[in-house]
Amino acid sequence: MASSSLSVVLLLCLAAVASAQMSPTLYDASCPGALATIKNGVVAAVSSDPRMAASLLRLHFHDCFVQGCDASVLLAGNERNAFGNVGSLLNVIDVIDKIKSNVEQACKRTVSCADILAVTARDSVVAVGGPPWTVSLGRRDSDTASKTLANRDLPAPSLSVTDLITRFAAKGLNHTDMVALSGAHTIGRVQCKNFRTRLYSKENIDPALATS
Ligand code: HEM
Ligand SMILES: *[C@@H]1O[C@H](CO)[C@@H](O)[C@H](O)[C@H]1NC(C)=O
Repeated sequence: MASSSLSVVLLLCLAAVASAQMSPTLYDASCPGALATIKNGVVAAVSSDPRMAASLLRLHFHDCFVQGCDASVLLAGNERNAFGNVGSLLNVIDVIDKIKSNVEQACKRTVSCADILAVTARDSVVAVGGPPWTVSLGRRDSDTASKTLANRDLPAPSLSVTDLITRFAAKGLNHTDMVALSGAHTIGRVQCKNFRTRLYSKENIDPALATS
């Protein structure tokens, strides 16, 4: 067999395996308590600090935008120190660490950290009154993280709409997706330094909105 057709066969097999692995019921048999354990951890964290719901939601976004949803954001150093992450992850990662150790107690080395981040984001939204959705499971964890990629891919608050659309397009997301996902900013906090320039520079914002 020519090597090119061999690699086509191989790629098709890999694609089949990869899609077969994603399922909302992936851990139902291998770790029946996983989803309840994660939810309990989120509810506890959010009830002692409601803002934690926003921080956990953002953590999943920042994980997914750098090398895909692979929990690379949790690895010490690297990505954690990128511009959009530095100084804003410590308490959040403590919450994830605690949830992860409870999940490990229930079943060893079964549930990926990347899946925990995805479920945690959903449970956080639900914990503050948002709508539930179904989370497909089967993400694999990375053993590498990159500050350089994080600084390249995470959108800065100073970007124009055109640049934001380009950043999202690079992740396979169109402008409709971008607007919908930006609805995440319904909850959470922002430091003044990140929006006052845009808010007070008149050419940057719709005048009616600026006045209101
Ligand atoms: C469209 C591009 C985006 C930009 C430019 C952006 C930028 C920012 C900035 C500057 C902050 C405040 C950080 C701080 O001052 O410490 C923030 C907070 C936040 N972002 Fe985004 N973001 C974007 C998209 C998203 C997406 C897609 C999500 C999730 C689906 C998200 C979820 C959040 C949440 C929940 C917070 C509040 C976090 C907290 O209170 O701890 N953002 N974002
Ligand atoms: C963007 O992608 C979503 C999901 O694939 C799709 O439903 C929507 O129609 C797309 N929007 C545009 C403007 O292409």
